[in-house]
Amino acid sequence: MRFTRDTVAALGITSILNSVTAQNLSYGADNFYRSNNVTLQPITFQNQYQMTIAGNLFTPDNLTSNAAPAIVVGHPMGAVKEQSANLYATKLAEQGFVTLSFDHQFWGGSDGEPRNAVSPDLYAEGFSAAVDYLGMQSFVDRERIGAVGICGSGGFLISAAKIDTRLKAIATASMYNMGTLNRNGLQHSQDVQQRMQIIDQASQQCWTELDGGEVQYTSGTANTYSPNLSPVQREFYDFYRTSRGEYTPAGSTVNITTHPTFSSNVKFMNFYPFNDIETISPRPLLFISGDIAHSREFSEDAYQRAAEPKELLWVSGAGHVDLYDRVDMIPFNRLIHFFRTNLAANQIANTNETVHGIQTASLRGG
Ligand SMILES: *[C@@H]1O[C@H](CO)[C@@H](O)[C@H](O)[C@H]1NC(C)=O
Ligand SMILES: *[C@@H]1O[C@H](CO)[C@@H](O)[C@H](O)[C@H]1NC(C)=O
Ligand SMILES: *[C@@H]1O[C@H](CO)[C@@H](O)[C@H](O)[C@H]1NC(C)=O
Ligand SMILES: *[C@@H]1O[C@H](CO)[C@@H](O)[C@H](O)[C@H]1NC(C)=O
Ligand SMILES: *[C@@H]1O[C@H](CO)[C@@H](O)[C@H](O)[C@H]1NC(C)=O
Repeated sequence: MRFTRDTVAALGITSILNSVTAQNLSYGADNFYRSNNVTLQPITFQNQYQMTIAGNLFTPDNLTSNAAPAIVVGHPMGAVKEQSANLYATKLAEQGFVTLSFDHQFWGGSDGEPRNAVSPDLYAEGFSAAVDYLGMQSFVDRERIGAVGICGSGGFLISAAKIDTRLKAIATASMYNMGTLNRNGLQHSQDVQQRMQIIDQASQQCWTELDGGEVQYTSGTANTYSPNLSPVQREFYDFYRTSRGEYTPAGSTVNITTHPTFSSNVKFMNFYPFNDIETISPRPLLFISGDIAHSREFSEDAYQRAAEPKELLWVSGAGHVDLYDRVDMIPFNRLIHFFRTNLAANQIANTNETVHGIQTASLRGG
């Protein structure tokens, strides 16, 4: 997720992106994977503001525990739970975790008007609301709840974890800091002048909408293919606009999927999820990023600022969107190890199993 229309041209695309092979972006992709060993149950629950959130609860069929560990999974910014989040939730449930994917407020089946609006606080709140829900299930251990945030949800999850100690283990995949992205562009490709221009245009758009003008949408994924798409846009296009990952939820239309409203998108300018990230300690953090991902700066930044215990896992040869659904590239085994260790029934005994420092996953799926 990224790009205001006005800044596409300004975005610097660096050499790391040239190594992404456009022709083979979806090799091994399996976004819509379903497991024979896991039961998916559509659910709804309330956030703290009594807004309804739509989610899916995944329970392992062999579950016998009445105190199981549980994991919340948040979808990429502009996506819905059917995109990447269900896949991660399913893969983790296969390994014995109760898992929950959910639609962020204003997206998919969750409440909130106008549709596709941006509210970083409510996005973070979704993770806490999911913890509420899980902790009220008789088969979940309230002391063993963790979460994974993918893309923009990585930042929303960090934001949630800072003020919700019930989240005991926090992992991100292909994290985007939507605050930094909107303020500065990727790799500081947008200056303050350009930022101010966007803020002014969005402010004027508020008058336009109040006066009955049309809602404008911004950023997201190009709706039509063009050879002029940047490598970053092509990567998103391959997922969001093809059968690989395309999903239009009920009540929406294909042309507005992935696109936030322009007048609300500026809320991200005030979003600083990594401020105070060190206060999450001693709860463990795992940041997973492709080493050629265009978003790698965000995982690096978060890792540097976080306190121990923390781990930064580079996936060799992986780009940003690869970790949405290319199941041979997503290091599920490392994710599972992280949660087995940190959501173990006896935490103290396992403290030393936490992996520290910067690691590289070179084995596919390893
Ligand atoms: C796509 O990538 C996979 C894994 O790297 C490789 O085995 C396969 O041959 C590639 N296919 C094409 C068409 O390049
Ligand atoms: C599903 O369960 C069967 C029977 O217990 C097992 O053999 C198989 O490995 C499981 N598959 C996955 C993907 O967990
Ligand atoms: C359920 O199956 C998973 C994957 O094989 C396994 O890790 C877990 O321990 C099993 N749980 C029970 C309660 O048997
Ligand atoms: C999207 O398409 C619908 C028809 O399917 C149309 O009514 C609507 O105006 C379009 N919205 C935008 C922003 O293009
Ligand atoms: C944990 O590791 C530290 C340093 O490696 C060691 O001193 C300590 O005894 C270990 N604790 C346990 C419980 O194994």
